[in-house]
Amino acid sequence: MSNNASAPRKILVTSALPYANGSIHLGHLLEYIQTDIWVRFQKSRGNECYYVCADDAHGTAIMLRAEQEGISSEALIERVSKEHQDDFATFGVAFDNYHSTHSEENRYFSELIYTRLRDAGHIATRDIEQMYDPVKGLFLADRFIKGTCPKCKTPDQYGDNCEACGATYTPAELIDPVSAISGATPEVRSSTHYFFKLPDFADFLKRWTRSGHVQTQIGNKLQEWFESGLNEWDISRDAPYFGFEIPDAPGKYFYVWLDAPIGYLASFKNLCDRTGIDFDTYWKKDSEAEVYHFIGKDIVYFHALFWPAMLHGADFRTPSAVNCHGFVTVNGAKMSKSRGTFIKAATYAEYLNPEYLRYYFAAKLTSRVDDLDLNLDDFAARVNADLVGKVINIASRCAGFVKKLGEGRLSAHCAEAELVARFIAAGDGIAEDFEAREFGRAVRKIMELADEANTYIAEKEPWVLAKQEGREQEVLDICSVGINLFRQLMVYLAPVVPAMAEQSREFLKLDTLDWHSRHHVLLDHDIAKFKPLMTRVERDKIDAMIEASKEDLVEEQKLKEAARGPLADEPLAGEIAFDDFAKVDLRIARIAKAEYVEGADKLLQLTLDLGGETRNVFAGIRSAYAPEALEGRLTVMVANLAPRKMRFGVSEGMVLAAGSGDGIYLLSPDAGAEPGQRVR
Ligand code: MSP
Ligand code: ZN
Repeated sequence: MSNNASAPRKILVTSALPYANGSIHLGHLLEYIQTDIWVRFQKSRGNECYYVCADDAHGTAIMLRAEQEGISSEALIERVSKEHQDDFATFGVAFDNYHSTHSEENRYFSELIYTRLRDAGHIATRDIEQMYDPVKGLFLADRFIKGTCPKCKTPDQYGDNCEACGATYTPAELIDPVSAISGATPEVRSSTHYFFKLPDFADFLKRWTRSGHVQTQIGNKLQEWFESGLNEWDISRDAPYFGFEIPDAPGKYFYVWLDAPIGYLASFKNLCDRTGIDFDTYWKKDSEAEVYHFIGKDIVYFHALFWPAMLHGADFRTPSAVNCHGFVTVNGAKMSKSRGTFIKAATYAEYLNPEYLRYYFAAKLTSRVDDLDLNLDDFAARVNADLVGKVINIASRCAGFVKKLGEGRLSAHCAEAELVARFIAAGDGIAEDFEAREFGRAVRKIMELADEANTYIAEKEPWVLAKQEGREQEVLDICSVGINLFRQLMVYLAPVVPAMAEQSREFLKLDTLDWHSRHHVLLDHDIAKFKPLMTRVERDKIDAMIEASKEDLVEEQKLKEAARGPLADEPLAGEIAFDDFAKVDLRIARIAKAEYVEGADKLLQLTLDLGGETRNVFAGIRSAYAPEALEGRLTVMVANLAPRKMRFGVSEGMVLAAGSGDGIYLLSPDAGAEPGQRVR
């Protein structure tokens, strides 16, 4: 694709629509920041580029959440939409339009696309059996049913798979299933569902995914899906449901994932209607405009299969590309509420400058689907070294001399024309990297230039010359070159750190820092007084943010407790997750030997046989048991407790006993248990 073409490209860009029942967190932000950088770059290049998004407002989860809060679904999505838009604005994510899937435009396009698909024969209906909550009067999605795993008998498992043994099954196979919403025993009921016949589009999709519309990694994944066969997609849900009723099917609603991507059209249509852009130029079948969707790797199926098929079947153009990114981890692990690394956008912004995060994400982003680790030490080091230490440093070293020796006006001639020309020329390669979403590579090149600029100034030592008489012009010349180099860097960094770029633009007294403007070297040009553009990342702010994120968790738990929603799929305070319990390795142990411990009036030293392995354990049970009464007995021990050094030796585990003040009762298994056996 030519970037130097004289006619500006017409480009429509979207990010995935965030669910209207949760806050924006740093994981989401990777996507919105990645997209926003790309959009800002396109705009900087002079292309006609629009960036639209919306809240994904439909579905059972949102309906139930509103009910828990005792408000209408409309009130909930209204409030969340405001919160989302505030968060995005804070992080400089500049949509041209932010809409909602619960909108008239979206109803219109959902009905239109559905009707066209139906009339072309791509919709089927058939009855399916499903679990039904007779108390709530609601069909239950698998995740709203709990019961005992039919395979390993672990209680309290979700309707589709067991967290303990990994078995997958249908909710009907669960032992003693209950509705997670009301606690009632669900019944099996039959109802008519509407299906989108995805297999009709198998050939189209195979061609489409092989012609450069998806990344290689995604193409491979799609290949696997093609090989295992495409299924018809259930696009209807029974009332009550928060969504759009299907036109020819009273009581049936479009499944949230049907109208969610259509929200891209709806948001853009809303923008067109407000501003006079021509909708069809972008969406008609043979459109020459470009359309890009940025998404996370968890929603590829919807965007690379269902969505192009729906568009194609309904006579719209299909996307130019679906650009998929990986997931954010923090300090090498999945974001975790209990570790305080599940960080909300708003919590981050209370402690740290949003542009730090934009820079860090940019520095690590590639065009691939790999996960991205936010390592908080590296984050601080990188932002401080690069943005503050390299880039801002150039301006702060030079600005004072320009003020003093040139009265705020840059030299009338360029003392290092070649150096400045090289910085300008570098913009072409950097632009290619931005275009290809190789932001990390772009940032590396920009920082290499920053290094060169600093080296130039360090070698010229204007601060030394400034002390020598008659060399004022020379100092002004050097510092004017420095300011020009800084200006080039800010043109390149502007898509990444727009707020810092805006302050730089004011400092440089320029109308624009767009990509092309850099060709005009600043000579005999006034600049403003220099103000620090960004402060260093402070470690204690990061720590405070982590602590605050832990408190966010406590707040949420209070809310959940207040509602004591059966939807509480996270443990409440005082509860542990099943995973935590599963970490405890409980084993049957035979007490091979028991002895008094000299100098310890509460302890016995036990040698425990785990069926081949022995452990030395100190147990506080001397008041209740004579050593010889214990030898040969079976009990239960925690076998994976980290060894603890005690005054008398190392204790390698713990035996389980019941006990209060006046009695201690060692647990023992029923006859038949064997040493070493796992206890569950
Ligand atoms: N509502 C759907 C999208 C509908 S698009 C027609 C949805 N919403 S979401 O709120 O769960 O996610 C929004 C986007 O954020 C998705 O692209 C998702 O992949 C991305 N991310 C959510 N958590 C993420 C990380 N931890 N890391 C990176 N991206 C993540 O899915
Ligand atoms: Zn199981």
